[in-house]
Amino acid sequence: MSDPPVTALRATAEEEADIRRRVREVDPASLGPDRVIAVSGHAAALARMLADPRVSDPIYDLPRPITEDSVRAWIEATAADQARGEAVLILSLDEQGEVAGYSRFSVWPDRSSAEIAGATRADRQNRGQGTAGAARSFGWMFEVLGVRLIGLTAALDNVRSARVIEAAGFRPMGERDSRRPDGTLRRSLYWEMTADEWRRVRDPGEAPS
Ligand SMILES: CC(C)(COP(=O)(O)OP(=O)(O)OC[C@H]1O[C@@H](n2cnc3c(N)ncnc32)[C@H](O)[C@@H]1OP(=O)(O)O)[C@@H](O)C(=O)NCCC(=O)NCCS
Repeated sequence: MSDPPVTALRATAEEEADIRRRVREVDPASLGPDRVIAVSGHAAALARMLADPRVSDPIYDLPRPITEDSVRAWIEATAADQARGEAVLILSLDEQGEVAGYSRFSVWPDRSSAEIAGATRADRQNRGQGTAGAARSFGWMFEVLGVRLIGLTAALDNVRSARVIEAAGFRPMGERDSRRPDGTLRRSLYWEMTADEWRRVRDPGEAPS
């Protein structure tokens, strides 16, 4: 489980309950076509994608070693988190039903905050679709999950991630330590953006709410 954003917002009880409900009831199709919530039956296909180091190496919070069993346990743990309104694991499937990408959203409803970690299958990377795809996911987190703050991390050498994150308007906030599931630390670049900042970037004429 990843750590919440450095900036600690405080949600009202009503806001927290609303975010938990949104996370529990989320429709994956609202993120894009051919998206599904991960279930145990996807474990083998998801493990096949994640076993590729071009997909998984830059990501600190995946189960390791990556096997069908460890991925199934991770899917089931995330489903339990989703039932509490605290995480969602969404897969994108190709025409053959193979996993072509994943996004895992960690949500802290009491802080009105969320994080995303994700990857695209190696054959679909480097096609110039990262910036648009990431921007869609960030907007979805603000609009559909209803959070007011997103915190993001990336490995220090992950130039593609840094590029898509800063293209979306996130504020660089230096570095922080990310905790891997085995307790070891990975040094990460760190960014944040609020929903008001997001709306201003999308529509500079709009006043903050
Ligand atoms: C990170 C990821 C989602 C980006 O998606 P993508 O479709 O491969 O990315 P793109 O081809 O759109 O490239 C993203 C940007 O990086 C730039 N870029 C690519 N390689 C680069 C390099 N070596 N140096 C500098 N910029 C580079 C691209 O030009 C593009 O910028 P632009 O839109 O301004 O032209 C994808 O590569 C991925 O899944 N990687 C593995 C897992 C991962 O790193 N996940 C994120 C963890 S935070």
